[in-house]
Amino acid sequence: MDFVGNHIISVDQFDRQDIARVFAVADELRVYAARERITRVLEGAILSNMFFEPSTRTRLSFGAAFNLLGGEVRETTEIKASSLAKGESLYDTARVLSGYSDVIVMRHPTAGSVAEFAAASRVPVINGGDGPNEHPSQALLDLYTIRAELTGQGKKIDGLSIALIGDLKYGRAVHSLCKLLALYDNLQFNLVSPPGLEIPQKLAAQLQAQGHRVQTYHQMEAGIRDVDILYVTRTQEERFPSQEEADRYKGLFRLNQLVYTQHCAPNTVIMHPLPRDSRADAQELDDDLNENPNLAVFRQTDNGLLVRMALFALVLDVADQVHAHSKPVTWFTANRSPAS
Ligand code: CP
Repeated sequence: MDFVGNHIISVDQFDRQDIARVFAVADELRVYAARERITRVLEGAILSNMFFEPSTRTRLSFGAAFNLLGGEVRETTEIKASSLAKGESLYDTARVLSGYSDVIVMRHPTAGSVAEFAAASRVPVINGGDGPNEHPSQALLDLYTIRAELTGQGKKIDGLSIALIGDLKYGRAVHSLCKLLALYDNLQFNLVSPPGLEIPQKLAAQLQAQGHRVQTYHQMEAGIRDVDILYVTRTQEERFPSQEEADRYKGLFRLNQLVYTQHCAPNTVIMHPLPRDSRADAQELDDDLNENPNLAVFRQTDNGLLVRMALFALVLDVADQVHAHSKPVTWFTANRSPAS
């Protein structure tokens, strides 16, 4: 795809070459995320960060990514704090914000809403998550992390086996990741969910049609054996018709150190898009895995900064100018690597 000036709404826009381009730019930007250098390549540019659903890492990392490239960030964080609460349409909101912004990131609870908004926007719009539908930047950072973790084990994405565990019905991160992974060759997908929270049938059929092996499991222990990657997800309780219904699924699948030791190969990588639900009745990814070296969840969040910087650099056409606007960091920073 041509990134410059374009919206990023769905992973369906990408082919393997596009993904390689994003990852190459992300690799180049590592020195800025690690605070080894500053770049001001987006000095004067404005990001409107519109999050109409709760978020910690997507909102903050998109904002920090823009700041690290030298740009400024303006935010709205709730529907009730915006004029959407007064009945303003997405069309009008997009027309207004286009005049204030060089790029917009938007999260919204309704599937398709970000595409509707983007259709009215004069500036590029990046989907920060639209209901249960898609979360393209999460899928890119997950795939970037998978590539790094597998490379460390001498493996490739082609041929990998992955268990996707938990709420596969409403988990937009899972939906987007599956579609990206499907671009690679000869994968094994273990779809591990409680009955009722299976992945949408259309998506499972798409994976099979693209030549991958797809196996459905309703017992976690059976589904997590002999895979390279465990990708655990939270019950997306905000998407259920009622809290009572969501509560029926909470805590059914719990990955902890004991389960991992008993059922997984020693180097199995553990991922989760986060947030994990650490309340006593949930705990799908137990805190007792925190010191497990195969737990990649905080490497995922760090990689999110790189991938989101790369998306801004590509969409705003500065990927080749970043280093020309750089200088050394002068302050103490714990983020700098010891070798620098
Ligand atoms: N993974 C993710 O989307 O996290 P947030 O909801 O905190 O942004």
